[in-house]
Amino acid sequence: MNIQSFHDTIYTVIHDAALSLGHPVPSFALEWKHEKTFGDYSTNIAFALAPHLKKNPHNIALHIQEYIRTHHAALFHTVTIAGGGFINLFCSDAFLSSSFTTLKKKPLSSFFSTPKKLLIEFSSPNIAKPMHVGHLRATLLGDFLARLHTIVGNSVIRWNHLGDWGTQFGKLLYGYKHWNEKKETVEDLEQLYIHFHKKSETDPALEDEARKEFLRLEKGDTENRNIWKHIVSLSLKEFQQTYALLSISFDIVLGESFYEKYIPHIFSLIEKSGKSQISDDALIIDLESYDLPPGLLKKSDGATLYLTRDLASLYYRSTRFSPNTILYVVGNEQSLHFKQLQAVAKEIDLPHAPFIHIPFGTVLDKNGKRFSTRAGRTVHARDLINDVIQRAHSVGKEKESSASKKTLDAMGIAALKYGMLSYNKTSPVTFDPESMLSLTGNSAPYIQYTYARARRVVDKTSFLSRLFYTPRAYPSPSSSERTLLRAILEYPAVIQRCVDSATSQYLTEYLYTLSGEINAFYEKERVLGDTNKKRMYARIDLLKKASSILKEGLSLLGIESPSVI
Ligand code: ARG
Repeated sequence: MNIQSFHDTIYTVIHDAALSLGHPVPSFALEWKHEKTFGDYSTNIAFALAPHLKKNPHNIALHIQEYIRTHHAALFHTVTIAGGGFINLFCSDAFLSSSFTTLKKKPLSSFFSTPKKLLIEFSSPNIAKPMHVGHLRATLLGDFLARLHTIVGNSVIRWNHLGDWGTQFGKLLYGYKHWNEKKETVEDLEQLYIHFHKKSETDPALEDEARKEFLRLEKGDTENRNIWKHIVSLSLKEFQQTYALLSISFDIVLGESFYEKYIPHIFSLIEKSGKSQISDDALIIDLESYDLPPGLLKKSDGATLYLTRDLASLYYRSTRFSPNTILYVVGNEQSLHFKQLQAVAKEIDLPHAPFIHIPFGTVLDKNGKRFSTRAGRTVHARDLINDVIQRAHSVGKEKESSASKKTLDAMGIAALKYGMLSYNKTSPVTFDPESMLSLTGNSAPYIQYTYARARRVVDKTSFLSRLFYTPRAYPSPSSSERTLLRAILEYPAVIQRCVDSATSQYLTEYLYTLSGEINAFYEKERVLGDTNKKRMYARIDLLKKASSILKEGLSLLGIESPSVI
């Protein structure tokens, strides 16, 4: 059984109060507003119920207010009604204090329900092409989701699905074998593609040659297999460097080629379903009843397609690992593909675990334009990472910092991660190294600075004196203590919101707010040197919990919290 968080306790009270009006409870909002006049929470429940009960919201609010007064007096010191029916809830100090004690004692996972097994696919770059900015966003968001689900108690399989198969490899093989260009790096290989596309414009026969090369690869031709293997290992080595730089790891890394052996089984399911048909020599499945274009399953030359390999992979992941859910963290330009995958899996009765596509928006440059280089190629993830690292070094220089190269590199990576994760996942990220590294805004350096500052105060006291003097229950808090206490208590609800929406932005927003409260508190209240020992240690305890939330929150974003800044 999980413990109810501060938010969930209030939610249940409002829910029960609404239920006492005799109607099933519609969905409603319970919001933490920062203006003190709105109390600790504000809810629109009366407005949500009004159309169902055919009553005016103010009267409903009055009923709920009365219900709370009769049944839950201990939790609130005031409940007000504003704006014609909004209910503002002001919690009692005793409830705040007991919620704080619970939050301190329990790990985050105790606020969450029964653990699930999740398979999270993320990153998934393509062999022989550099990771681009979309892969970078997928990598960071996927890593965040994996960490998030782990901390709430789920078991997570981190999965990387490499694009290492498909007819495009025919083009690469052709270029590789016939042209003298450099073939040492993934960028060189990308150039081979570009070259191929240019040449094939004037020489369409090349397309046929490429198809033949891919067919040879599929049939196991030794030369083609060896070149392909070499290209795969070259690409993996480069990807690994990027993953190491970003501290990203995977449990399973499998390329699309791995699923070739499961393809016959997929085709037998397709055949059994009787749903497929031949069109222009290709095997397709009609998806009109889903309002989707037909799914392409096999090309006229017999080569498999992206969709077919995804069906095989879905089958393999589900039967081999039995996850409760599979998450695909892939850009929103592939939404149609995943809808088709869903539909085809249903049509052919593919045994599989439920799965969800977690789409995300593009990354734009700081002028709000799509990224492109002068050479017209897509922007490489490494270029962007390097831009932020470089900016971290210039900030270091401006501040005449004595920080080492390693520290400044880490500062750049932290800023990059925080910056990219502080956007709502469906909206585009604006990539601006300067604001990512701002020392005062909603950025990693600001949160890290606040963490170090709060932690330094805590560390000025000894473990033993904290043990001895810290009051068991928080004594009646002053107004600024209360504000900080209130912010701390919101943490599990923020995490819940991130889990429900697969979004990191709620966490970054919260860490930014909490940091603001910590700094305001510290500026207003004298902490160290207070002659009232109990009060001093109660405040130290607040700072200790607040800083541990910052640390844990940053770690969910894949960022470390240095103790010195
Ligand atoms: N490799 C693909 C790309 O870069 C993304 C793969 C997404 N995952 C999947 N299971 N289809 O576009």
